Amino acid sequence: MNRRYYMGALLAGTAMSSYAMSAFRLKKDQMKNGLGRSSFNEGWRFRLGAAEGAEASAYGDSDWRALDLPHDWAIEGPFDVKYNARCGGLPFHGTGWYRKTFDVPAEAKGNVVSVTFDGAMYNAHVWVNGHFLGSRPYGYSEFQYDLSDHLNYGGANVIAVKLSPEDLSSRWYPGAGIYRNVWLDVRNPVHVAQWGTYVTTPVVSAAQAAVRVETTLVGDGAVEYEIFDPKGRTVAVGADPLLFVEKPKLWDIDSPHLYVLRTTVRVESEVVDQVETRFGIRTLEFLKSGFKLNGRPVRIQGVCLHHDNGPLGAAIYRRADERKLQIMKQMGVNSVRTSHNPPSNELLDLCDELGILVQDEAFDVWLKPKVENGYNKFFAEWGERDIKDMVRRDRNHPSVFMWSIGNEILEQGNAENGNRMAKQLNDYVKAVDSTRPTTCGFNWWPGPYENGMASQIDIAGMNYKPLAYGAPVNEFLPSNPVVGSETSSCTSSRGVYHLPIEKYKTHESKQVTSYDLIGPPWAYPPDVEFDALEKNPEILGEYIWTGFDYLGEPTPYGGKDNSTNGYWNADWPARSSYFGAVDLCGFPKDRFYLYQSQWTQEPMVHVLPHWNWEGAGHETIPVYAYTNCEEVELFVNGKSFGRKVKGKDLTKLLVKFNRYEGDTFMSKYRLSWDVPYSPGSLKVIGYIAGKAVAEKEITTAGVPAKVRLLPDRKKIDADGTDLSYVTVRIEDANGNFCPLADNTVQFKVEGAGTIAAVGNGNAATTAPFIADHRDAFSGLCMLIVKAGKAGGKIEINAASEGLEADQTVLTVR
Ligand code: GAL
Repeated sequence: MNRRYYMGALLAGTAMSSYAMSAFRLKKDQMKNGLGRSSFNEGWRFRLGAAEGAEASAYGDSDWRALDLPHDWAIEGPFDVKYNARCGGLPFHGTGWYRKTFDVPAEAKGNVVSVTFDGAMYNAHVWVNGHFLGSRPYGYSEFQYDLSDHLNYGGANVIAVKLSPEDLSSRWYPGAGIYRNVWLDVRNPVHVAQWGTYVTTPVVSAAQAAVRVETTLVGDGAVEYEIFDPKGRTVAVGADPLLFVEKPKLWDIDSPHLYVLRTTVRVESEVVDQVETRFGIRTLEFLKSGFKLNGRPVRIQGVCLHHDNGPLGAAIYRRADERKLQIMKQMGVNSVRTSHNPPSNELLDLCDELGILVQDEAFDVWLKPKVENGYNKFFAEWGERDIKDMVRRDRNHPSVFMWSIGNEILEQGNAENGNRMAKQLNDYVKAVDSTRPTTCGFNWWPGPYENGMASQIDIAGMNYKPLAYGAPVNEFLPSNPVVGSETSSCTSSRGVYHLPIEKYKTHESKQVTSYDLIGPPWAYPPDVEFDALEKNPEILGEYIWTGFDYLGEPTPYGGKDNSTNGYWNADWPARSSYFGAVDLCGFPKDRFYLYQSQWTQEPMVHVLPHWNWEGAGHETIPVYAYTNCEEVELFVNGKSFGRKVKGKDLTKLLVKFNRYEGDTFMSKYRLSWDVPYSPGSLKVIGYIAGKAVAEKEITTAGVPAKVRLLPDRKKIDADGTDLSYVTVRIEDANGNFCPLADNTVQFKVEGAGTIAAVGNGNAATTAPFIADHRDAFSGLCMLIVKAGKAGGKIEINAASEGLEADQTVLTVR
């Protein structure tokens, strides 16, 4: 046998995976050419705590826990007040070791064998067979090691990874562990380098697009290209790195057409490597007057998103990210800012597929610390490498349209350092990709504008400065475009309403009212931003803080503001954010509908609060409607309380935020009525041109009587990672939703899947995420079920004391 071999033989016990797009994908029969990538996620051993000598091959790890990656040890808990609530109140720091034993056949010798970590949290040190390969501090960076020279060919090998995330090293929940995918590549010595394909489309017209490819090879070979259109048909072939696609189908937010470039490398006519790279053809224009995608003005309707998926923690689940983005799209979102770190490959692949523009962000700090043990410790040594690697890795994604060099960097106040470093980072980015602009989120005003730092990058990101749009900022930046890189920071708890409406700082319940007006001193209701954007049409748009709730940063609870060091445990168990328009489980809060009313066209109307106020001692209830219709009529038990006209009938909001003069804001974005409470039905009808086009009704619920299971997907894939999110709803005997129910629900999951996690969106509880039961919060909780690797049925039973139980069956294919 020569040195080509079948990958399956090399990776005994490791499942072949068809790697997500944007890297190469090979057909099975091509594998025998000794080329390919396979998942390296299975069959690891894990130990939490120090393990002297565990890098050595001979170390005995048989009593370590066996698991498959991706893995986040911190999400397993338990929550404890001794951990930092700012980071989710979970044990994300300490030392964690991972080891994997794998066979390499003798025939593999002569190929390049490498391991790629999509990300390991935090400060990874990696050994193979006792040989130290290197370290990578930043948990969000992808890194690769060549193992070839250190392998035991024809025998067993051991890879060992030590992680050591430190306490007080993050402003939010970072997760802990090898939380992203790991891959093993086996390549001919002549091959396309890591991130060695760079596709740009320098000229695009309706008739034709020019596609330019830059290829970096390891070794000497001849390169050929083939481009496949979205239907898989060959549309361009050749050895010239400039190719032409006739009548290109453009990548756009409503029609995310994707092309694939296949790069084939030959040595003396023999194929030695083949790489497939997905790309899109589109034009981006960032003008002082606004942003244009494919020549058409598009206002950014964006969300900032942290990387965790609530109850699942930071471990990558493609389906969790897909669902998150789908929910965001329903809200009207067309862009995501990956606050404040490089995202996963999966997130970018999904944004490519779903038509979501991405502001890809590198850092939350440079040299000046925000927390005691932050990334600033590593920035001097690793900053250049980390940002360049991010750009190199992500530059073929059509969804990525802006590079952010940082968020609220504390060098803003230091003209000399701020300017110098911003320029330096801008230059690093441009050296790797000059087809997209740079940006940075500034929160000080007017410091970085006045001292010139904001002019070092292409687009100034303004965090929480709607009052400075227009003349104030244009005085400093007459020609640079400006974006609201972080806006609103309104807080709320799903389904919780406190009356009378007050502008309080904190509430004894450790929840925040969902009338959508409470926030920290720099925050303001969404309406204020809508108004500022309407008055300043040249602002590119906004990124709200945040689309989803995330673990950590429980502002306004915790006792600190967002830039203070130390522990945030004064209001324990408040341990996750209240900022989301959607809660930690993905259940929309009222604010979801306020954004939907501003960002979508399909007629909709939403009404709040709930209608279960008996015995609460309030005679009159403020009722708000959020709509994109022209008028809304409110009915209580069939009696009309009149129509209100959007844009004309205003709602007085209590507002107080930094630099805002006055205590109220007259909002034209919500309609409101004060309604005497009587139980029964609360109904809103939305009208356009006098015609009823949307309605919503809420009914006063009786006592909880049954549990109802509503899976988002009844068929899932037998890949060991696919998920079904099962909404658990508490209803009365007539099937009405019980908005105040907090019943404990007990789950039984049997068959072809297991419980991945449970949750309920309550930001102030220490109930574990990995459990077989959950209390409802405001009437709902969530059961997340994970498929196994074999097909079959998953039988789910949900019971609660005194309530009628429910069952459902999922199919695993
Ligand atoms: C911003 C910061 C975010 C988050 C937010 C909360 O200043 O950039 O990371 O802390 O405040 O309002």
